[in-house]
Amino acid sequence: MRGPVKRLGVLLSGRGSNLQALIDAARRRELGGEIAVVVSNVATAPGLERARQAGIPAVFRDHRGMRREAYDAEIVEILGAHQVDLVCLAGFMRLLSPVFVRAFPGRIINIHPALLPAFPGLDAQRQAWEHGAKVTGATVHLVDEGLDSGPIVAQEAVPVLSGDTPERLAARILEAEHRLYPRAVRLLLEGRCRVEGRRVIVEGE
Ligand code: GRF
Repeated sequence: MRGPVKRLGVLLSGRGSNLQALIDAARRRELGGEIAVVVSNVATAPGLERARQAGIPAVFRDHRGMRREAYDAEIVEILGAHQVDLVCLAGFMRLLSPVFVRAFPGRIINIHPALLPAFPGLDAQRQAWEHGAKVTGATVHLVDEGLDSGPIVAQEAVPVLSGDTPERLAARILEAEHRLYPRAVRLLLEGRCRVEGRRVIVEGE
């Protein structure tokens, strides 16, 4: 017998194309769980509308004028109220405070548009292009209190082509992200990962 359906909480600030990839994978029953709630710190984030369209509770919480810890505590409460097992950051443009990270130990993941530890931070696709990297890609990693610094769950490489612009490169990386994120979520929800120091050991890999 299978256990109870695992529940995902997705946090975002913008477009939400990765959320869409997760929604689509859940519909195909390839996610290993369901999306219980989507939370955004931006009222107009298109990702919130994608959630509503899919019939998923979509919550806006303004962070402006709030201390980081107080804001994070509110988000933790919302996720708790929806009985979230795993938190997915999908273009959530905020660093998480220790309050948040400790509330979901080893159960928060992020997707980053480069092969970490190369090119952390903002505009990673452009960073790789400007640096002249020949290969970049996408990374799903556990979230700790640093910037894009937690243990790596999964990566997909994307070659940088000679005719690339940062925008064309970013578009190909995004396609890789949409394949990678649902796969990584499934590995985690199915309990096929265990963390040993910096290393995430994936069963069968
Ligand atoms: C993606 O490139 C992701 O890697 C980064 O933020 C972007 C979010 O895009 N963390 P979207 O909102 O999922 O379309």
